[in-house]
Amino acid sequence: PIVDAEDITRRDPLSGQMLLQPTRFALYAGDRVAITGPSGSGKSVFLRAFALLDPLDGGRMAWHGKRVGRAAIPRYRRNVAYIRQRPAIIDGSVEDNLRYPFSLKAYRDVSFDRARAASLALQAGRGADFLDKRASDLSGGEAQIAALIRVLQLSPEVLLLDEPTASLDPESSHAIEGLIEAWFNADDKPHASVWVSHDPAQAKRMSERHLTMRAGVLAEAARSPNADEERTQ
Ligand SMILES: Nc1ncnc2c1ncn2[C@@H]1O[C@H](COP(=O)(O)OP(=O)(O)OP(=O)(O)O)[C@@H](O)[C@H]1O
Ligand SMILES: [Mg+2]
Repeated sequence: PIVDAEDITRRDPLSGQMLLQPTRFALYAGDRVAITGPSGSGKSVFLRAFALLDPLDGGRMAWHGKRVGRAAIPRYRRNVAYIRQRPAIIDGSVEDNLRYPFSLKAYRDVSFDRARAASLALQAGRGADFLDKRASDLSGGEAQIAALIRVLQLSPEVLLLDEPTASLDPESSHAIEGLIEAWFNADDKPHASVWVSHDPAQAKRMSERHLTMRAGVLAEAARSPNADEERTQ
């Protein structure tokens, strides 16, 4: 597997309550996984733990067969990228936002490529002026597209998408889906994605494997995404 979660757990730091029950989950090259489940069931807790954005309370993560120790976390996060529903956008232009990661230590070896960023924007149906827009003027959909370009330009191996299109119009949603599809086929690196979605049609389009989260327990879905979603509503 590219990434392997070995019995990872997360607890509420205050109450000690288990938010994520011991979870085993391996992602292989080419995997496209969808996770559905009721609100508050632990989907985001799982993705954030898997991305090593929040400290694990138990278990471990392995990347290409090697345990990810503390020192390897920045490199791991570079390759296993988490995309949140509401992107964090900094003041300034879209280009300033896209340049931001390159100011971080983990990305010292690469530099911003405006042509590449512009081509990703174009793939997402944005014009040449997109990079010069003020970030504070972006619509929700455009902000999500900017956040996705910010991650994709760094060529991660794995994308963890946490309802990235939940508040977007269909057109922006399709732009996001298109970007992800293009990334999947972009280079000869191994790629895999996990997509948390409340939209069964989208879950179906963007995945071959379907898991459900219920009360902190991740399980293989027995039913189609459609049937599952109807049951939780
Ligand atoms: N840092 C935290 N500290 C304490 N409790 C947390 C923390 N993060 C999440 N929780 C709790 O863990 C549970 C699962 O939350 P989570 O955000 O993973 O749900 P979700 O499945 O992503 O829901 P939604 O579909 O609404 O996004 C919730 O009860 C939430 O309140
Ligand atoms: Mg969530």
